[in-house]
Amino acid sequence: MRILVIGGGGREHALVWKLAASPRVSKIYCAPGNPGISKLAECVNIAVTDNEALCQLAKDKNIDLTVVGPEGPLTEGIVDLFTANGLKIFGPNKAAAQLEGSKTFSKDLMRKYGIPTAKYAVFTDAVSAKKYVKEQGAPIVIKADGLAAGKGVVVAMSLDEALAAVDMIMCDQAFGNAGAQVVIEEFMQGEEASLLAFTDGVTVVPMVAAQDHKRVFDGDQGPNTGGMGAYAPAPVVTPDLLEQVVRKILQPTVNAMRQEGCLYRGCLYAGLMIGAEGPKVVEFNARFGDPETQVVLPLLVSDLTEIMEACIDGKLNQVSVEWKQEAAVCVVMAAGGYPGSYQKGKIITGLDAAEEKGAVVFHAGTSLDSGAVVTSGGRVLGVTAIGSNLQPALQNAYTGVEQIDFEGVHYRKDIAHRAVARIDK
Ligand code: AMP
Ligand code: GLY
Repeated sequence: MRILVIGGGGREHALVWKLAASPRVSKIYCAPGNPGISKLAECVNIAVTDNEALCQLAKDKNIDLTVVGPEGPLTEGIVDLFTANGLKIFGPNKAAAQLEGSKTFSKDLMRKYGIPTAKYAVFTDAVSAKKYVKEQGAPIVIKADGLAAGKGVVVAMSLDEALAAVDMIMCDQAFGNAGAQVVIEEFMQGEEASLLAFTDGVTVVPMVAAQDHKRVFDGDQGPNTGGMGAYAPAPVVTPDLLEQVVRKILQPTVNAMRQEGCLYRGCLYAGLMIGAEGPKVVEFNARFGDPETQVVLPLLVSDLTEIMEACIDGKLNQVSVEWKQEAAVCVVMAAGGYPGSYQKGKIITGLDAAEEKGAVVFHAGTSLDSGAVVTSGGRVLGVTAIGSNLQPALQNAYTGVEQIDFEGVHYRKDIAHRAVARIDK
């Protein structure tokens, strides 16, 4: 099989890595890819925003299966375009990708079908939005409706912060058109977890639950990032809870999408809040999570190409999806200053040494400079390791991290702290 993976971060490196392990796969292309990915795939310099060029590439290279990493191409209709051209592609079409692309769409769907989530109201003008915020009081959550690269959410602990967020999103248009509508939500308390699932539009097969670490500093301090690390399985999602999430959230959502005429096929990512009232949806994503994918896929035993083809063909009930009874940990090594401003072009050392110690180093923000691998983004690497359970997985991941260095490197030293606290109890 000939595969094309779209994207160039840690998530896509993990996808390429898992796909490359399939005996069915003879060749992988990745657009645009990165230096880590280039060891497993031929990287092609096409931007993820250029759906037409990606479609032409898939035709030129006789691609049998295309896998989309980021949400942008999905909400722009890449699946519709490929399908119209007779090409197989894994992911939801444009109508179904609204589940991530529009918070109003996903909240309205959840309300209509009784899927547990925070109470909310939608506004298109700042005056009524602020009036509602004042009535509700803080803490309260303000969200831009559209895609804002994970930054369109303000969890406001005070009324002033909440009113300022409405101004920033609606009046200053900090997220452009994504903020033309805002969703204002009840603040939910609890522990967050990410549950990704494969679906063919009818059958839902959950993956192993994961937890990511959004804040930049240890102890969940400092600003939000794209994710500073992850681990799986997340013990907060007990077997009983997993069954509840499938029964009350994932299956009803996939059924609802079908009933609404938006058959959802691909990976459905549920961001969950596990609180006193049981699991509730924080958000849906129409794609694999990053960094969650970097810990979930290393635990997958089954052939990913077979699962993905079954999702596309509506035959997910005919494949077996098996998981290792082990744990995986991913520690993100970031550029100092991230998520604020940071420097690029720093030489990275110790990548081979980390792999010799048994870690898998997924590249997120790297490039090549005269043959050397250098930093080129905020999140630079995802150092991942598995172990028989969480403690050895953690040890293996941090042993990998210790081999690697670049000027200004920053990483969290407390990945999986919530799970460790549970074990210690
Ligand atoms: P989202 O982009 O919707 O996932 O939101 C980003 C982050 O904001 C989430 O991971 C949560 O930590 C937080 N968040 C979003 N909505 C809520 C809510 N209703 N209550 C509490 N925290 C929230
Ligand atoms: N880890 C959060 C996300 O992928 O959206």
